[in-house]
Amino acid sequence: MDAGKRVLLIITGGIAAYKALDVIRRGRERGLQFRVILTKGGAEFVTPLSVASLSGSRVYSELFSLTDEAEMGHIRLVREADLVLVAPATADIIAKMAHGRADDLASTALLANDRPVLIAPSMNVVMWNHPAVQANVATLRARGVHVVGPGAGDLACGEVGDGRLADPLDIVAAALGLLTPGPLTGLKALVTSGPTYEAIDPVRFIGNRSSGKQGHAIAAALAAAGAHTTLITGPTALPDPAGCHVHHIESAAEMLAQTLDHLPVDIAVAAAAVSDWRPAAEAAQKMKKQEGGSPPQITLTTNPDILATIAAPGPQRPRLVIGFAAETEKVVEYATLKRQKKQCDWILANDVSAETGAFGGADNKVHLITATGPEEWPRLSKTELAQRLVARIAAQFKKASE
Ligand code: CTP
Repeated sequence: MDAGKRVLLIITGGIAAYKALDVIRRGRERGLQFRVILTKGGAEFVTPLSVASLSGSRVYSELFSLTDEAEMGHIRLVREADLVLVAPATADIIAKMAHGRADDLASTALLANDRPVLIAPSMNVVMWNHPAVQANVATLRARGVHVVGPGAGDLACGEVGDGRLADPLDIVAAALGLLTPGPLTGLKALVTSGPTYEAIDPVRFIGNRSSGKQGHAIAAALAAAGAHTTLITGPTALPDPAGCHVHHIESAAEMLAQTLDHLPVDIAVAAAAVSDWRPAAEAAQKMKKQEGGSPPQITLTTNPDILATIAAPGPQRPRLVIGFAAETEKVVEYATLKRQKKQCDWILANDVSAETGAFGGADNKVHLITATGPEEWPRLSKTELAQRLVARIAAQFKKASE
């Protein structure tokens, strides 16, 4: 098999196991080669024959483990792979991986593995959100395991929420991203995204309408280009982008603390809509209405500027710091001033006046402002904009290394 394209696919026993067949089909279309381990549970949902026909290779299963070990030991299975992909990954295999169990061919191969691992979880929403599963996933992420999905939607069990296996095309894209060295391989990137929530009391907060779409798309594009990417995000309705190390925060203070914790990096992109102010003091208890009384006065205080903190000169300063400027008038003029004031290298100026629909919308129209001046970009989807930005970043680093 060609090096750089060999995937050991582990299909575990979830209702989404049948979609693993599509992962194989889509992956082969894009040049990936598969060897497959089908667990006992997986074989309840798909037959070894269908997997073997689609993958063009025999299927390894603990049902025949003695024969399998004789023909191709679990060590060789992983050594001869460039990537191990677990799709679908059930709560059970995630728990086994997190705790180092090795009681069948799949878990034994995973424990003996030293290759990159990508998991595509799929399960009921309550299971997915269970603290035990979340803790296991966090353990795996901390060990460098990559996670794609799950997405939100109707689940096979009839409930609705997070837990759906990521789209097979997204799984294949994430696998390819990990297998192919990209223009930013070897570089570290950090992205802030989404809004921040500033607590007024235990139930109320000051927030904004940022959807996080642009920041998440940039993080995904950086990761796809090979950068080791950390995403620090406020509350959004979006799934964690594939291939990124994601930290969820609420307030600007938490975003700053996480950001500082993850420096140094080579590239920083501040796409978050950080609340400029926060209540000077968070009420310890829910504020009550006073009968006939006047509404409470909330005193605000200024939040730290995360972009300006990252971009300030010093030993930890990233080589390239990129900010956004959300403006409703004199977009280029105000953004040019903002670039100087915040000392960032580039700024993406976008018009967020209500009629543009940029806030929460799928598209964005920006000017890229660099040391040489503004450059108008066409209206692009947020994904296309992210890809164009990452191509620019890659060109910049290539130039710098020449
Ligand atoms: N930003 C930040 N921390 C803040 C405020 C903003 O990191 N406390 C970053 C944003 O992520 C964005 C850039 O600064 O990259 C510009 O944000 P914007 O809201 O346009 O600018 P402000 O600094 O808030 O200025 P103003 O509201 O006066 O336009």
